[in-house]
Amino acid sequence: MQKLTIAISKGRLQDESLDLLARAGLSVSSDMLATRRLAVEDESGRCRFIFVKPADVPVYVEHGIADCGVVGRDVLMECEADVLQRLTLEIGACRMVVAAPSDVPLSSYGMLRVATKYPRVTARHFGSRGLSVEIIELSGSVEVAPLLGLADCIVDLVETGRTLQENGLRIVEVIAESTARLVINRASYQLKAEVVAQLIDSLTKIMRR
Ligand code: PRP
Repeated sequence: MQKLTIAISKGRLQDESLDLLARAGLSVSSDMLATRRLAVEDESGRCRFIFVKPADVPVYVEHGIADCGVVGRDVLMECEADVLQRLTLEIGACRMVVAAPSDVPLSSYGMLRVATKYPRVTARHFGSRGLSVEIIELSGSVEVAPLLGLADCIVDLVETGRTLQENGLRIVEVIAESTARLVINRASYQLKAEVVAQLIDSLTKIMRR
């Protein structure tokens, strides 16, 4: 049987992704997980997991290093990778929002300064509304930017809302709802059709339960 390589997003989505794949019969031993190895075999020997930064999952999949990947819709909205999006997974639910510290309407700023990890989504969002924005690209901890005077508002993810609240921000607009997606390399979809179809089928059944 052909072996699949599956890219997993490190961080928030990692545990949920591994739990879901374990339910589909692909699991990593706890001993293996306790190591710092970034490429590990599953217990059945049917697949290999690679653990990479969320934004790199579509890159590995597009280049065919990984056949499949589990990644948030937020990442796919931002990147331009050419991958097949085959399944919406019921994990990693969050919202991508515009959040600001005050009630001042965003349209009242001459040039709105927006801090974000998602510059393309941000440019599209404000561009479609005809608002001029200066996009300040950050790598994380975006919520602190308005507090420190670096930006007027942010575009970021909200899961529980705690980070926003504890940094004095409130949601101004919801840009998109996001959950994880199973993405597939175009060639693998053809060349490893049977094992890819099996994975999609198992995950689809789990989603229906
Ligand atoms: C994410 C996101 C928010 C936070 C939202 O950041 O970018 O900062 O989680 O979660 P909450 O609504 O449950 O508080 P993450 O923890 O992944 O780290 P980062 O800021 O370094 O991106």
